[in-house]
Amino acid sequence: MSKIKRIGVLTGGGDCPGLNAVIRAVVKSALNLYGMEVIGIEDGYEGLVYPGKTRALGFDQVRGILPKGGTILGSSNRANPFAMPVEENGKLVAKDFSARVPERMEELGIEALVVIGGDGTLKIAKELKDKYGIKVVGVPKTIDNDLSATDLTFGFDSAVRTATWAIDLLHSTAESHHRVMLIEVMGRDAGWIALHSGMASGVEAILIPEMPYLIEKLVKKIEWRESQGRKFSIVVVAEGARPVGGEMSVLKKPHLPWELPRFGGAAQRVADEIEKLTEKETRVTVLGHLQRGGSPTPFDRNLGSRFGVSAVDLISQGKFGTMVCLRGREIKYVSLEEAVAKKKLVDPESEMVKSARALGINFCSEEE
Ligand code: F6P
Repeated sequence: MSKIKRIGVLTGGGDCPGLNAVIRAVVKSALNLYGMEVIGIEDGYEGLVYPGKTRALGFDQVRGILPKGGTILGSSNRANPFAMPVEENGKLVAKDFSARVPERMEELGIEALVVIGGDGTLKIAKELKDKYGIKVVGVPKTIDNDLSATDLTFGFDSAVRTATWAIDLLHSTAESHHRVMLIEVMGRDAGWIALHSGMASGVEAILIPEMPYLIEKLVKKIEWRESQGRKFSIVVVAEGARPVGGEMSVLKKPHLPWELPRFGGAAQRVADEIEKLTEKETRVTVLGHLQRGGSPTPFDRNLGSRFGVSAVDLISQGKFGTMVCLRGREIKYVSLEEAVAKKKLVDPESEMVKSARALGINFCSEEE
């Protein structure tokens, strides 16, 4: 058993529904079970680099936050202590401020950290552990569900709920106007949201990054439906979807170390092709950040809560350099190394893809 008296908690990267459930669970279980104090760190790692961005979290501070989307602590996907954006001579440059992290923790009396984040945030946590011996336990979050070390991340179920709701809404208007409706959902590298929401709402085709598409196959499907008297089609397009031999659609390329490519345009590209090759009026809806908003589903609230409790439990046991995860129905843990080792992608040979195909959904890939 470790004798940790005070821990810090931060949320990094893109937000998602369920973050507040984790924060609440960390605070409640730290106080209820171990008498540990909790310091909330604001705006991801920024609060460990700059002063004045921390606050004590007790029962009062986490009351009523369970159903709320977002994160009460704020988040950032630019705040990397190893490459912080700072202005120098009127230009933004990257500076390594990582040495400030152990200093700030010492000043604040924080002995261990709960870091709630996706791939990028957890990689930074690993670097802080490796370079400065920081005691850290990770909690996986991302609506993309693309971390291989956990069966599911919280946020995913809520994002799929929102995407499914949106596709259901599109159905009636697509049918009334005999249109092809494309809906672009998030998923840069992984098509999990597209696959799950597309199957849940019974679409005609799902285009995902793991299975590059042939536009001719999609057109064939639309025309076949037309010949059967079904004059509308709905297609889900993951933002990372690309044609066979083509590139992903990037709206803005990264120029600075803290920037990520901004995806967008994947569905519009498909729509333009469909209109070129058919007579069908084709419209695009981009769901965007709506998928990251709103109240978490009961599943995400409970998964986030269980992760939060387990993270504090690992700290109490001195099991640092780890990340909590879901394996089957149980909460387990893995090393941070394993946590960030590889992405979890949709397997084209998986049962879920085969089931979708059996239901008549096309992926329009080369092999299909
Ligand atoms: O990682 C989650 C995610 O939602 C991706 O699917 C998406 O590409 C990205 O975040 C968008 O992030 P931002 O808020 O920086 O636009």
